[in-house]
Amino acid sequence: MQALILTGGLGTRLRPLTLHTPKGLLPIQNIPYLSCLFAILRRHNIFNVTLCASNSPNLYQNLNRQEIKNGTKVLISKETQPLGTAGGIKNAQKFIQDSPFFVINGDVLTDIDLTKMLEFHRKKKALATIALIKVKDPSSYGLVFLDSSLKIKKFIEKPAKTNKVKETFINAGIYIFEKEILSQIPNKQSYSVEKELFPNALKNRMPLFGFPCPSSTYWLDIGTPQKYIQANIDFQKKIFSFFSNDKIKKSNRIPMEKKYKDTVIGKNCKIGKDTDLKRCVLLDHVEIENNCVLENCILGCHVKIGHHSSVQHSQIIGDYSHITPYSLC
Ligand code: GDD
Ligand code: MG
Repeated sequence: MQALILTGGLGTRLRPLTLHTPKGLLPIQNIPYLSCLFAILRRHNIFNVTLCASNSPNLYQNLNRQEIKNGTKVLISKETQPLGTAGGIKNAQKFIQDSPFFVINGDVLTDIDLTKMLEFHRKKKALATIALIKVKDPSSYGLVFLDSSLKIKKFIEKPAKTNKVKETFINAGIYIFEKEILSQIPNKQSYSVEKELFPNALKNRMPLFGFPCPSSTYWLDIGTPQKYIQANIDFQKKIFSFFSNDKIKKSNRIPMEKKYKDTVIGKNCKIGKDTDLKRCVLLDHVEIENNCVLENCILGCHVKIGHHSSVQHSQIIGDYSHITPYSLC
């Protein structure tokens, strides 16, 4: 079974971290997000993956070398400019051999049962199946409305904040597509799965189904600072089971230091005396001097924080930045 991963977005909500590193290569603990995703896919016998990438596809070369050893074959479909979510899939057409095939947003971390989802898709004889999940505030996601047979009646991408959204399913960013759906996407132009492909397919009465995941399913879109921090914390605390039988061994991960609450610390970091850290993610080679307070923030690689400084409020400090002593960020 084959999967396409959409990794061609600009990751604007995680800037400046994503200015030089694509979102998919940001670490969750010290493992690139995409390696985590590939490990999840291997659990469902998905070993053949194509990245639909628009930004610096060469940056993925190291990942490819590593993943071959782990058992996943990674190919890269390049977009010379971002073609949107559906345009990216169409652009990767020559890599698609299997029907059906999975398509996954390159920023979701989940233990959704993809094997069950595939069984469901086949049983329903769907053209497309969308994994569905419930979240507290659905307004920043794609809303999906179903009939009693779980056929999709309506799809609304990110409703205006003013519209009160009742508790409903959202698009979890994981799809199974039959190859025929590619004929619904125009060639070489920007096209969106969420705003064009799904609404048009529904207008044309095509069989799109929703696969509601059980409420115990873990699911997170890592694309905002708070969610990225949360994914790092969750991964350390409870998602170890993802890798129980995988080549990504526990020894790859850095244990969370108890004295710093909910903080994930990368390789070769130095933290001074009387410095408090809470809900932070430190990438590799960060140095924080004495008497600092850091809460709810992300520090890029090689960041230096001078003594008596404070960094808070979902701040992201970009790679190689130096914060002078006594700063308030
Ligand atoms: N190849 C390619 N080309 N990929 C793209 C492009 C593009 O032009 N634009 C975005 N992507 C990729 C992003 O890299 C990301 O992995 C994925 O498509 C989704 O884009 P986001 O920008 O993260 O979208 P979102 O999180 O706001 O909303 C999407 O995900 C939600 C679930 O997390 C939508 O699919 C929502 O409907 C969904 O609920
Ligand atoms: Mg996203």
